[in-house]
Amino acid sequence: MDPMLQVQDLSVHYKTRRGFVRALEELRLDAIQGETVGVVGETGSGKSTLGKAILGILPAGTQVDGKILFRGRDLTQLSNQMYRRLRGEEIALIFQDPMTRLNPLMTIMDHFVEEIRDHESVSADEARRRAREALVSMGIHESRIKNYPHEFSGGMRQRIMIALAIVLKPSLLIADEPTTSLDVIVESQILGILQDLKRAYSMSLLLITHNLGIVAEVCDRVAVLYAGKLVELGPVRDIFRKPLHPYTQGLLSSIIHLETKELHSIEGSPPNMIAPPSGCRFHPRCPYAQSICVERLPPLVEFEPGHFAACHFGDKFL
Ligand SMILES: Nc1ncnc2c1ncn2[C@@H]1O[C@H](COP(=O)(O)OP(=O)(O)O)[C@@H](O)[C@H]1O
Ligand code: SF4
Ligand SMILES: [Mg+2]
Repeated sequence: MDPMLQVQDLSVHYKTRRGFVRALEELRLDAIQGETVGVVGETGSGKSTLGKAILGILPAGTQVDGKILFRGRDLTQLSNQMYRRLRGEEIALIFQDPMTRLNPLMTIMDHFVEEIRDHESVSADEARRRAREALVSMGIHESRIKNYPHEFSGGMRQRIMIALAIVLKPSLLIADEPTTSLDVIVESQILGILQDLKRAYSMSLLLITHNLGIVAEVCDRVAVLYAGKLVELGPVRDIFRKPLHPYTQGLLSSIIHLETKELHSIEGSPPNMIAPPSGCRFHPRCPYAQSICVERLPPLVEFEPGHFAACHFGDKFL
């Protein structure tokens, strides 16, 4: 099947007074219809930047190179007007904090009606009918549609944001840490909802998270980012069973230790993204680093069918 989304050699450099922040460097990633791809990495690894680049919501002045093909069309070349159409109708984003999307001065109904009528020429009655339907599909009683965002709990607000994101039936949903601020029970409800929706509409889902437990539970494939570089990509099962990149190995051993209540995180801290380390960006923290790692950037190599890693010594871990 042709990928619905193909990110090709995407680089995103933010302009700052201290220099360019190289948030993403030559990233490649794709997703086919109905697939859930997890994007993981520590804070600052470029996960949100990827979501924003796909949605076309990077700050003005940001340098973007490479292509983002959505159903064969390069999003980096779209006009603002075309992007506005696409957002919501074909690609939607849900954020970690629903209040960044919900307007405290508008009722839930108003949010839906505005979203629907911005994109489709339907009557106000029809928009209201669809709004109620969307809310009910998220397990919220339709009588609550006249309420304001602050009258809901965090978990309910997150459901409302999901309902808003999918009311136009987009084919790609990007969820940026959708459950990070929620407790574990609400988190698992939200993940359940996302999975049901994905099946019902055969949407593709790009699930950005720093939680590998979530990836194991809901994703088909996973992309691991380190300091703006894709360091490993492959089917979830392969990566959990046999991580080929030392950074992924470190991430995985930290969740295993978490279960045994012993917090073991990867030593060292993420690099300065204005002047990242030479060669392999992970070398200052890598227990296996050799001189070649300092000198040469490891290419992304397919070590097993569909399982890629960017490490000079990836074959050592096969
Ligand atoms: N608007 C911005 N201007 C400058 N630097 C930014 C901006 N947004 C993010 N960054 C930087 O880009 C890098 C990647 O950030 P981000 O994509 O938010 O990572 P993540 O979502 O994985 O935590 C970080 O170093 C961050 O500080
Ligand atoms: S290329 Fe070298 S520094 Fe980078 S992850 Fe592999 S062994 Fe470690
Ligand atoms: Mg983020």
